[in-house]
Formats: sequence, C-alpha cells, structure tokens
Amino acid sequence: VRFDLGLGVPDLTHFPWKLWRSLAASRLRLIRGVDNSYISAQGYGPLRDAIASSVRFSRAVHCAPNDVLITNGAQQALHLVAQVMLPPGAVVAMEDPGYPMARSIFLAHGAKVSDVPLDREGIIVERLPRDAKLVYTTPSHQFPTGVVMSYERRVQLLEWARKRGAAIIEDDYDSEFRFDGRLLEALQSIDPSVVIYIGTFSKSLFPGIRLGFAISPQPLRQPLVVAKQLTDWHSPLVTQATAAAFISEGHYMRHVRKVRRVYAERRTRLMTEVDAHLVDWLEMLPSSTGLHFAATFRHGDNAEAFADAALSAGVRMIPMPNGLTFGIGSIEVPQIKEAIKIVRGVASEQCRRDPRREIGRRK
Ligand SMILES: Cc1ncc(COP(=O)(O)O)c(C=O)c1O
Repeated sequence: VRFDLGLGVPDLTHFPWKLWRSLAASRLRLIRGVDNSYISAQGYGPLRDAIASSVRFSRAVHCAPNDVLITNGAQQALHLVAQVMLPPGAVVAMEDPGYPMARSIFLAHGAKVSDVPLDREGIIVERLPRDAKLVYTTPSHQFPTGVVMSYERRVQLLEWARKRGAAIIEDDYDSEFRFDGRLLEALQSIDPSVVIYIGTFSKSLFPGIRLGFAISPQPLRQPLVVAKQLTDWHSPLVTQATAAAFISEGHYMRHVRKVRRVYAERRTRLMTEVDAHLVDWLEMLPSSTGLHFAATFRHGDNAEAFADAALSAGVRMIPMPNGLTFGIGSIEVPQIKEAIKIVRGVASEQCRRDPRREIGRRK
C-alpha cells in the first residue's frame, strides 16, 4: 500500500513516546513500593479523577470520579453493557450503517439487532423499534458516515428513551478532534438518567493502550463493576497509572491540541482534493469532527469493488454502504494529492467500463 486512507488509527509519529516511557517507569517504581495487590475493579482512583475532570470540562458530562468505570477500550465497555443489560433475544437498535464491532458484540450476546436508518440529522427516531431495550449511537461523529446528530434529534432520542424505559449508549469515540463549529452537547450532558457514555483513548492516545471508560446511570454502575471484576479483575495498573499522570500533568491536552492541528491540515487538504477531483462522482457528507469523513456515490457504484480496485492501485480505503470513507490518521499532507489522483484514476477506469456513470457529467 503506497497511501493509506484507512480509518480507525491515529498517527503515532506525533506521540510523545519518551515522556510516556519516563512516566511509565516512574509509575512502575511507585507501584512496586505501594500497590502490590489487585486494585478496585472500577479502576485506579487517580485515573477516574482525571477522566471525570476531563469529560466534565470538555463534554459537560455529569459525573464524579466514582461514576467512572475503567475498561479495556470502548470495546470492553460495550461488552460489559451487553452482558449486564441484554437477555437473549433483547432488541438493540443501531444506526444503519453503524459500527460493526458494536453490532458483533450485541449479536454475540444473543441480542436481535435492529438497523435504523439515518438522515443528515442522525438516527431517525420514528423508525426505532418500539421494543428496543438499548440504542447504540455515535452522535458526535456518526460511524462511518461522519454525520453529527442535530440538537433537536438528540432531544427527540432522549425523550423516546425516557418514554420507553430504554437506555442509550453514546459512543463518543473521537470527539476530541473537532475542526469546525461548536461540538454539540453530549446526550449524557442533556439527560444522564438514560445514557451510558462511553469514551476511549484509542484515538487520542493509541489503540494498543486498550483504555476506555463507561459512565452510566446509577442503577447500572454496580452491575457493571461486578461484570468487570468477573471478566478480568481490573485493567492493567501500570497503564492506568501512567495515563492518570499523563492526563493530570497536562500532557494529554497538549498532545490532543498538537495532533488536532496536524489532522486539521490533512483534513482540509484531503477535502479540497476530493472536492476538486471527485466531486462529479462522490458527494461529501457534512462532517465537522473526527479522524475521517465520508462521501456517497452519485451513481450507485459498488463500494467493496471500488475499494479493492483502489487497493490494487496502491491506496487503502475503507468502503461503506454506497460510499467511501477518507481517514486522516495515516496519510501525510504531501501524499494527499497523489493518493487522490490514483483514486480519480480508479473512478475513471470504472466509468470507462460503464459509460452511464461518466465523470464530469453530473446528473
Ligand atoms: C465507533 C467506534 N467506537 C469505538 C472505537 C474504539 O474502540 P476501542 O476503544 O475498543 O479501541 C472505534 C475505533 O475504531 C470506533 O470506530
């Protein structure tokens, strides 16, 4: 692969590894002397403190340190919620298209997944099944389309959940990277009584750290902590302690600010190139946040076949139903022009094979 427009991974060349190593080494020394035993399944206290302050400040999430459960990434948070909330056959509603790893975990717990369509304001609340017990959603940056859920839709979704006695999972996986405008209120900040707020450090730090968290309504807290303990006692202490120091000493915010600037430049350049060279063939979806954006085909192409053809030409892209995603985590600014030239070549080749979709003749 010459150029990587794949999604899901941050750029690790900008990560302050040396600083991380030194924090990890000092935590190791500290822990060796003090905490030589298992810790609370809920997570390391100073990390819960740091996360609670951070999400209160950045997302107005209602929480105290004692409300935070530390997990091995968002994935484990989803797993624990499924384990605690979903008897076999329970109905879970998801955005369609949605995050495949969430879908798989619900199915693995014997739930029935109901795919609910989206429009440009987010999940269409009228289309939610009446018997859904749980709704999984990515309001800050819908996965994979990138659409931001409107404020009105947020209020409507929360009202629906309250009326039906359902819970909402708010997966806020990459809201640290906001590029235009104001980040809309987290669902949890509007109504914490029905929302399980899930966060991850996979995008803002690195995926291999396997660190995430869940902040849930009161009745779910203890069952989730018990499920965590039964699963693996607790997340690794050294990692938790290192992350706690990284956040509380201000390195986290500094790092996020730094990489946000790097991503902003890539995103602007990539959008400009897509707009200039692929506009007759792809329609960009509005997106203001996160490490990727998406575009839909104007002429109903086959996304999988297109991604395969792009890969053969040297560009890795992740398809989505009727469209493509453009990740900014693994491509450098000077590579973008060439990568999009190749994508344009693939598109032209597809049009040559099917002249009805000729580029340059917008319908
Ligand atoms: C929608 C969504 N949620 C969560 C995550 C992160 O999951 P984890 O914290 O398990 O790495 C990702 C990563 O790609 C994602 O796309």
